[in-house]
Amino acid sequence: MADETNPAPHWQTDFPIERTEATAVSRRDFARYLCLVSGGLAAGSGFVALKAQLAPPAEVVGEHLVCKVNDVPTGGTHAFVIAGSTIPYILIRLESGEWRAYEQKCTHLSCAVYYKPGTGQIECPCHNGFFDARTGEPIAGPPPRPLPSLEVVVKGEDIYVKAFRHE
Ligand code: FES
Repeated sequence: MADETNPAPHWQTDFPIERTEATAVSRRDFARYLCLVSGGLAAGSGFVALKAQLAPPAEVVGEHLVCKVNDVPTGGTHAFVIAGSTIPYILIRLESGEWRAYEQKCTHLSCAVYYKPGTGQIECPCHNGFFDARTGEPIAGPPPRPLPSLEVVVKGEDIYVKAFRHE
């Protein structure tokens, strides 16, 4: 309190707010903040999903060299991007010896997916989505569609990918 001998500083008279009032967060404010954050997250996720639907990636034309056979051990993977594109792909050398190439983006909300060696499954860690590594089909979790895939062509020691020809 101010008295004649010890007047309160200016800031105290200009902003007469107690410290406890300044740090208290009301339930209403907290609920507002929560709504704002979750609304922003929902809008962002919706935008990503919509963008993936409305702007499908450009088609892969021709064959593209990815790497050498010896660059990928059995049960291993090799991430790659085709020249002129920004789509991330993953080349998988399954334990059976077969090769597969998939887009590395989950068909749910586009998180990066990873091959789990020894399981035959590709996992999306964002929401526990799983795909069959042989077919790309979703087998668990929220992914609604198979992973887009490329045909893998082995020529001697070289691995190429190309778009599947649908007849
Ligand atoms: S983004 Fe992959 S399961 Fe949700």
